[in-house]
Parts: sequence; C-alpha cells; structure tokens
Amino acid sequence: MSTATAIEFKITPLNAPLGAVVTGLDGSQAVAPEKILQLKQALRDYHILIFKEQKLTDEQFLNFAFYFGSLFVPSDETPVLASQPGVTPVIIPVSNVDGGYTGTGELTFHSDHKWTPYPSSGSLLYALEIPSAGGNTYWLNTNLAYETLDETTKNQIANLQLITYNPFLHDRNEPRKPYRLDNTIPLISPVFPHPLVRTHPESGKKHLYLDAATEVEIVGLEPQEGAALIERLRKHLNQPQFYYQHNWSVGDIVYWDNQATLHYREAFDPSERRVLHRISLAGSRPF
Ligand code: OGA
Ligand code: MN
Repeated sequence: MSTATAIEFKITPLNAPLGAVVTGLDGSQAVAPEKILQLKQALRDYHILIFKEQKLTDEQFLNFAFYFGSLFVPSDETPVLASQPGVTPVIIPVSNVDGGYTGTGELTFHSDHKWTPYPSSGSLLYALEIPSAGGNTYWLNTNLAYETLDETTKNQIANLQLITYNPFLHDRNEPRKPYRLDNTIPLISPVFPHPLVRTHPESGKKHLYLDAATEVEIVGLEPQEGAALIERLRKHLNQPQFYYQHNWSVGDIVYWDNQATLHYREAFDPSERRVLHRISLAGSRPF
C-alpha cells in the first residue's frame, strides 16, 4: 500500500531553454538502475538536472555523484578553484564563510576547468545555506547559442582551436584581459587548445565552447582579428533567450553538464551566508 505522502519519481522539463526538475528521489539511498539511466538520458537532453529536497552527508553526496562519473582531479600544473600545492579538495565549499571559496561577487559565465587538458564533464552543487536575496545561478545552453549563429559565422569558426588561459595562474597584479593580444609576452602556463565548436561526446550536438570573460586566444589568427571574433561571439552568447535563472532553495542539488552549458552567479550581500558544496566529475578530451 502506498502512503499518501510518497512522492513518485518524476523528471519534469522546465519551461526554459534548458533544465529539468527531479522530484521523488532521495539521493541518500541507493538509486535503482533504471532511474540512473533515466537521469543520464535526461542530463543529455536537458543539460542540467535540479534535484529537490535533498538531505545528504558529504559521504552520501559523493556516493550519489559517483553514479554519474569519477572525480575530476587536476594535475599539479593546472590548478583549479581551491587547489593547494599537490591537493584539491574532493568536495569544494563554495561559500563566503568559514574559509570557503568564490566570495560574494558576481561570477561571469564559464564552464568549470575549461583550461585543463580534460575539462570536467559535469559538476554538482548542493545548497546548504542560501541568502534571502541575490546569489541566483544562471545556466546557459551553448548548443542553442551555436545553432543561432548565422551560417557564415558557423563556417568561419568550424575548425578553430581556442586556448583558454588558466585564471588561477593569472598574476593578481595584472589586469584581467578578455584576449591575449600581445603574444610577445611569454606564456606562464601550459596551454591546452580545444575546439571552439565542441561536439558533445554523448549527444553529438555542436556547442559554442567559449566562456564570457576568461583570457583566450584563437590559435593561428592575427590578434586583432581573433579578438574581434571573440568579442562578437561573446555578445551573441550573452542573451537571456539562452539561459535559465535558478533561484536556490536549501536542499537543491543542481547537476550540470559542463560540455553543454555555461553558468553565471549573481553577487549577494556579504553580510549574509551562502554555503554550497561542489563535486566536479572527470571529463574527456574535447573534440
Ligand atoms: C561553481 C560555481 C556558482 C555558484 O561552483 O563552479 O561557479 O552559484 N558556482 O556559486
Ligand atoms: Mn563554476
């Protein structure tokens, strides 16, 4: 006999350019094989999944995340958020208190670990404490951004390779630049060019693989030409018709595909607390 309060497992697409909400699933328990498969297919189709009303220990959160892949582990030469020499925490506190990371400011649209040789396939962010206002996170559908480019631009960028410079190796005293115009300055980081138009490894769809603000360079183009093209593509990317704005509730886990989306965070009041835990999953070589 089922009780009146039991919620059935449901995946409900959002009325938005991407995203689906998952209800009736308790991530602290073993999840049935057919549900895992449904979730993997839903992630491929909707790019982000929002799990509601979770109550997990760190260990349960890890067990849940690892249904979808193994841990992203950066090499020592490619530090990422929260990296200390030789170690990066398994669960990263994305928090403005208690020694957490990312502060209270705006985070421009990005995908996690894009400057590494094998960028993260996806990340899961679990909300523990949420401010009364601000701090919403937006996810942007990079397949839609690609598909809405004009044909001339699609042809122009079809075979280009993009270098994204590691922001965690950036000299803090240097101003942040959107493009590496002066290529006489020696590189301080190892660089890993990736296709500017990335093919998704499961869906085969094409995605504009570019973030909003990190310093980049197109391999083989004159700096002025490359910078102008990137500026134009970034203007195109940044349109509300491509994104969904998530207003967090405590207990939400958002699992997003870094291969298919960008994410952005609004600033929030530094006098409030915002605490989330993040796990990033390993990815493969972009093609
Ligand atoms: C991240 C991130 C956004 C947020 O954890 O990778 O970008 O909303 N966080 O805090
Ligand atoms: Mn991020």
